[in-house]
Amino acid sequence: MGWSASDGWNRRGGLCVMKRMGGGQLFGGFTAGQRRGKLAYMNTAESVVASEPVAPSLAVRIGSLSLANPTMTASGTGGYADEYADFSDLSRLGAFVTKSISKLPRKGNESYRVIETRAGMLNAIGLANIGLDRFISEKVPRLEKMRVPVIVNVPGWCIADYADVAAKFDQDIPVVTGIELNVSCPNVKNGLSFGTDPVRLAELVAAVRKRVSRCTLIVKLSPNVADVAVTARAAVEAGADALSLVNTFTAMVVDVEKGRPMLANGTGGLSGPAIKPIAVFMVHRVYSQVAKAHNIPIIGMGGIQTWKDAVEFLLAGATGIAVGTALFVDPAAPQKICDGLTEYLKRKGKKSVREIIGALDTSSV
Ligand SMILES: Cc1cc2nc3c(=O)[nH]c(=O)nc-3n(C[C@H](O)[C@H](O)[C@H](O)COP(=O)(O)O)c2cc1C
Repeated sequence: MGWSASDGWNRRGGLCVMKRMGGGQLFGGFTAGQRRGKLAYMNTAESVVASEPVAPSLAVRIGSLSLANPTMTASGTGGYADEYADFSDLSRLGAFVTKSISKLPRKGNESYRVIETRAGMLNAIGLANIGLDRFISEKVPRLEKMRVPVIVNVPGWCIADYADVAAKFDQDIPVVTGIELNVSCPNVKNGLSFGTDPVRLAELVAAVRKRVSRCTLIVKLSPNVADVAVTARAAVEAGADALSLVNTFTAMVVDVEKGRPMLANGTGGLSGPAIKPIAVFMVHRVYSQVAKAHNIPIIGMGGIQTWKDAVEFLLAGATGIAVGTALFVDPAAPQKICDGLTEYLKRKGKKSVREIIGALDTSSV
């Protein structure tokens, strides 16, 4: 299958991974879905012009961030931005979310660290990244030229790790306007347990909150818990401005000939279409149990490929939606999602995407 060296995040990462994934043949029905999406897009573009001159607004707010539309990259799947610049019009994103940037550089796990599954992929990259200092000197100048809000994803192995890196971005790097705390990466053996323990999570968020005043503080929740509303509540009560969910589901693929796990790390995080219905459920649970009452926006993700997937998340309560695994098949997926979403809103007679956020009708269930 040729995944050996692939962390997918070097310059040609996107294309290289797409090629290995068969150019969109995978992910059970993705190609058919893509075709339907393209046809719908082509069929509707003209009627838009003919019947309704004013396009519905896609603008949303996540904390203090004003987004032209709800789409974002999911952390770790769009690299540091330069990897995707040749394949996708990044200025059409609502926001760009970087991969996790740690205090010190990290090599990540040994290969295999990415494995294709029947409806998505399993990754155990191990938070490979160039570290805070190189990120600031080498990548921030590129990000400063972007015309969309930049959110950095911050991992950590103790509270001070998170707080120091978050404070650095908040105080010294004006182009960064959002900080997303990765509290749930299941791929690092020495472990990030904050995301599964509401008490530790609250301590962490409160400590970071004290050091972050300018940026919107987003807490990215782990799905690997009994009830995601419990950790969501802990994060919100400790001062999160927004929540994002879901991170990947801990999972394993077995090599039956060798009788051992395929990933060098043993386990990895499952992402892609396989997790979408669970992610939609979790977004709705967090929205209805916590976020709605506190007026806290949610960034929903997990298997989003098409505008229809995005609408599911928006109806379930997400204000923003992030695209991850689908970017490896189609780097332009977020732009196509915006086109499809616009058409959907017109068809439904909506003036703004905000009218459908959390509008799921559960009265009959
Ligand atoms: C290859 C890969 C690398 C990822 N790296 C990170 C990361 O560095 N930090 C993080 O918070 N999430 C990371 N994620 C999780 C995604 O941001 C996202 O939460 C998850 O993949 C679900 O979305 P998707 O199904 O659209 O991919 C990664 C996911 C993948 C597939």
